[in-house]
Amino acid sequence: MKTIFSGVQPTGIVTLGNYIGAFRQFTELQHEQQCLFCIVDQHAITIQQDPAELAKAIRSLAALYVATGIDPEKAVLFIQSEVPAHAQAGWIMQCISYIGELERMTQFKDKSDGKEGVSSALLTYPPLMAADILLYNTDIVPVGDDQKQHVELTRDLAERFNKRYGDVLTIPEIRIPKNGARIKSLQEPLKKMSKSDPNKKGTISLLDTPKEIEKKIKSAVTDSDGVVAYDVENKPGVSNLLTIESALSGVSIEDLVAKYEGLGYGAFKAGVAETIINHLSPIQEKYFALLESPVLDDILDKGAEKAHAIAAATLGKMEAAMGLGRRR
Ligand code: TYM
Repeated sequence: MKTIFSGVQPTGIVTLGNYIGAFRQFTELQHEQQCLFCIVDQHAITIQQDPAELAKAIRSLAALYVATGIDPEKAVLFIQSEVPAHAQAGWIMQCISYIGELERMTQFKDKSDGKEGVSSALLTYPPLMAADILLYNTDIVPVGDDQKQHVELTRDLAERFNKRYGDVLTIPEIRIPKNGARIKSLQEPLKKMSKSDPNKKGTISLLDTPKEIEKKIKSAVTDSDGVVAYDVENKPGVSNLLTIESALSGVSIEDLVAKYEGLGYGAFKAGVAETIINHLSPIQEKYFALLESPVLDDILDKGAEKAHAIAAATLGKMEAAMGLGRRR
């Protein structure tokens, strides 16, 4: 059995991009593998957060994990800040990271570009992410395409640690979905769909109402030739909508192109919106039933306990290998 680890930040909304790129992989993998899924709240505070909003977002994300199909009997679901080994191992990973390699991370460049008062933690975010992964002897990290560079750095750091201190850490592999590794903004289809996009018309939240979804898909940017075809370079908007419908319905892009042949963009967009609404309705129903339920606290308590047991053991090995603390 392989060990799977992944995390999602509790910041703002959870988008259809997060769902297709990450959550769908999680629910697929949980049946056969040992899975751990984390609400990475310590990553969220690398950018200043409103405390009340953050608390709400953490609970909301926990409910969404379960509502999208994570089975707490099979997978371990927990909050990062409730397992102290993450921050401790994060420090160790920082100590073996070079400033230059952290400055090369494209996400750091994007998030810090032109901003004043950038936190030092925005730079040292990837070593914390490496710690998240490495603490669980993770074999596979299911993520969207945008996390590739961070997982590659995690591998480099693990190899560097093992070379210096002995064979302690497992080198993880990345797993990216074949279809939907990078869902694009509905308004700017060359950019990824992102929860931090100030243009809310570009993103679909998992909690959007059917009306909001219809409106956003209707106003999605396409092109003027009126032909439903898959061509990422020349027709990025249409291709993105095809990718979304295909990922959610399981129908191949080829079959979708055939389905919409001879129909205009109006019918195409109505079909895409309907697929999204039908897919999200049962998730939303489950989400609202769970949100205030004590069941959610029980899941998170048990998750933190199980995660702590594994993480503390790995941290102990890392510290011993490095000579930290008292050794006899
Ligand atoms: P985050 O919270 O930004 O995103 C969560 C997951 O969603 C994927 N994703 C997308 N996939 C397809 N299309 C998109 N438009 C899209 N937008 C986001 C992301 O790739 C990710 O899988 N650094 C991570 C959180 C993290 C983590 C970890 C992940 C912290 N520690 C350890 C894996 C393992 C992040 O900010 O994800």
